[in-house]
Amino acid sequence: MYDFLIRTATPADLEIIARVEAECFPPAEAAGESEFRQRLSHYADHFWLMFEGDRLISFVDGFVTDLPDLTDEMYADASLHDAHGAWQMIFGVNTIPSHRGHGYAGQLIRRAIADADAQGRKGLVLTCKEALIPYYAKFGFADEGISGSTHGGVLWHQMRLTFR
Ligand SMILES: CC(C)(COP(=O)(O)OP(=O)(O)OC[C@H]1O[C@@H](n2cnc3c(N)ncnc32)[C@H](O)[C@@H]1OP(=O)(O)O)[C@@H](O)C(=O)NCCC(=O)NCCS
Repeated sequence: MYDFLIRTATPADLEIIARVEAECFPPAEAAGESEFRQRLSHYADHFWLMFEGDRLISFVDGFVTDLPDLTDEMYADASLHDAHGAWQMIFGVNTIPSHRGHGYAGQLIRRAIADADAQGRKGLVLTCKEALIPYYAKFGFADEGISGSTHGGVLWHQMRLTFR
């Protein structure tokens, strides 16, 4: 039996994070190593990682901003992270294929929600494909309709969970 561990990231996690991302998304949608290097240098503490033993099996990431809506520019420019911002954005939710359906992503989403609440944020914002709206609704996210994002050439819905 392996132990499961949830922790935030450090820049040393770059390679394993990029590997999991590549397993989870088609190339047009996956963030690459250089993007993750930038993200980790600005907001490694807003990555939530789940390990089974020493293997990364799932992660959630996203920065913090005062801007209420998630835009493609945010994915591309990690320097826009504002540690004191109101909204925790969620850019990626990934579980490696062999480990899906065991609630791992759910545990990380709940941890991200709890941390954002403890940090006094207004709430969390994510974008997702239509099929996943009911999944994120389970955690309290409400669908706000089609987002302005054209990331990877697909249609994305913006969803928001508001605390205060
Ligand atoms: C979505 C994803 C992160 C879920 O990870 P997980 O660890 O299996 O998540 P959980 O075990 O907490 O929950 C699985 C849920 O996701 C749902 N789900 C996953 N992919 C789905 C899809 N394409 N369409 C509809 N539902 C989907 C399952 O039906 C299940 O719902 P349930 O809890 O109501 O039964 C994982 O499937 C993944 O990495 N997918 C590829 C990347 C991706 O699309 N990420 C989301 C970007 S918005």
